[in-house]
Amino acid sequence: MRGFFGTLTAAALITASTLAATAQTTQTTQTAPGTAPGKALYLSHCAVCHQDSGAGGLKLGTAVSADLRSPGLETTYRNSDALIMRAILEGKDEEGGPLDAPMPHWKGQLTEQQAGQILIYLKTLCCSAAPETKSED
Ligand code: HEC
Repeated sequence: MRGFFGTLTAAALITASTLAATAQTTQTTQTAPGTAPGKALYLSHCAVCHQDSGAGGLKLGTAVSADLRSPGLETTYRNSDALIMRAILEGKDEEGGPLDAPMPHWKGQLTEQQAGQILIYLKTLCCSAAPETKSED
């Protein structure tokens, strides 16, 4: 009898924790799974210059904000998450040269984890025009 109740309790516990986990996921995922934190960070930190859509194209002084949508961003950065993370955190382009102001360097303001969440969200944004052929820079 003891064994039977033991099993029952364990089963009940598992059910309860599964339910709790499910409730949590439904709460945070409005769009695709895992993009909600990045979307919130993007909208509060980046959209002012890169637009809600990620299309960029705003004139900011002498610079124009970049199009951050797929697949152009990944193509420019040779499909390297590490290079895109460096662009966000250190303001460096795919060659390691400085991105134009006013693109901020986010290191110190965003953690690597937060930048990673933004990157996951950026990858869901579609579609940039055909991959840029950078004429001069
Ligand atoms: C104050 C305006 C501003 C804000 C805020 C801003 N950016 Fe930018 N960003 C720019 C500009 C301007 C460029 C283009 C720089 C260049 O062409 O050298 C740029 C370029 C970039 C690039 C390089 C794209 C490429 O094609 O080389 C990435 C990646 C980027 N921004 C990501 C972000 C992210 C992520 C955020 C939010 C955490 C953000 N930016 C916030 C202005 C901004």
